[in-house]
Amino acid sequence: MSVLYNKNVLLGVTGGIAAYKISFLTRLLIRQGAHVKVIMTPQAKAFVAPLTLSTLSKHPVHSTFTDDEDNWINHVNIAKWADLFIIAPLTATTLSKLSYGQSDNLLIATYLSCSCPVMTAPAMDLDMYQHPTTRENLDKLKRHGVHIIPSETGELASGLEGEGRMAEPETILKHAEDRFEQTHILKGHKVLITAGPTYEPIDPVRYIGNHSSGKMGYALADIALQLGALVTLISGPTHLELHHNNLDRINVRTADEMNQQALEHFEESDICIAAAAVADFQPTEFSSKKIKKKDDQMGIQLKPTPDILYNLGKIKKEQLLVGFALETNDGIKNARSKLKKKNLDAIILNSLADSGAGFGHDTNKISIIDKTNETHFPLKKKKEVANDIFEHLIDKYELA
Ligand code: PMT
Repeated sequence: MSVLYNKNVLLGVTGGIAAYKISFLTRLLIRQGAHVKVIMTPQAKAFVAPLTLSTLSKHPVHSTFTDDEDNWINHVNIAKWADLFIIAPLTATTLSKLSYGQSDNLLIATYLSCSCPVMTAPAMDLDMYQHPTTRENLDKLKRHGVHIIPSETGELASGLEGEGRMAEPETILKHAEDRFEQTHILKGHKVLITAGPTYEPIDPVRYIGNHSSGKMGYALADIALQLGALVTLISGPTHLELHHNNLDRINVRTADEMNQQALEHFEESDICIAAAAVADFQPTEFSSKKIKKKDDQMGIQLKPTPDILYNLGKIKKEQLLVGFALETNDGIKNARSKLKKKNLDAIILNSLADSGAGFGHDTNKISIIDKTNETHFPLKKKKEVANDIFEHLIDKYELA
């Protein structure tokens, strides 16, 4: 499967003759399983029809800050959608605007709003390409982290021969693949993740559960997939979706089912992260009929559920085993005690005392604790938290 599978690739087309080749690049990217959106400078429309690119990419193509009905085209949303921004062809005018941040069109505004990697394929005539101003602007973009795909030598639009032709779509595709290949640090690793709540049935209509949405566990699975790992996600009941060819999602409801699946998949894993909020108790008996309401007090007999992480800690060999600790008070002390008791390599502490952290939110605030160290992080989006966790583990345990 291509490293571009499921990646969001934004193409920025500027006004040069090579713009027509972007239709081929769009098709190549889509064949690799990428999602493609295109934005153009107004001048680019003279070289390739927006209709061609919107038909191929299956998304509307924008070139101005508002559409025909005067709706604002949100360049920030477009920028945040992208996993990779490829500006091709890059003309001398757009190069100059990019290097000075002259945000007078949608493409430049989107570039300035991007936090994803950016690569560009310059296309200019011979002397323009060699001009010291062009060289300086290209150097400046490089210093700003933009990856420059070198122009090729050959016949130019002017009829002259020399360097300045835009790299061929196949070459641009290769640069895009290499970019993602470099980030596939966990390629070959098997990651097991538990996520979401468990529901312990009382009778056919009632259960004991908790407020876990699954967001933290799913964010971890998503980042592991982006890093190239093969992921097994054992998920309690949640409405969340995650699709990827390298993902094996196993849906469970109860702690017993989660325990059984975790034990079955643990041995083949290299890294296991338990983000699930497993119910600690289950009814001693399941009533096959709906329990009738009574006027006086009622009680349910409870027994402990299996401690999944403890069970994994007992059979751990080479695996890296990471747990979560959800606390309300004495966080560090309690997390350290779970780290030891469950034979973990590290534990991620999140506390319900921190606003925006824990259940349900899109954000979390964590500390990563191991036998010797504690690393504290500020409140972040759960995807960023997941990224911090993997970065930390990769660094500390030299997983790359
Ligand atoms: O799902 P979200 O809404 O995004 O919320 C995320 C989260 C708050 C659920 C998550 O970040 C989190 O903290 N998960 C662990 C919750 C929890 O059960 O913590 P605990 O301190 O009770 O358990 C410690 C560890 O043991 C956890 O890794 C847990 O998965 C595991 N455990 C607990 C009980 C049990 N019977 N079996 C277990 O394996």
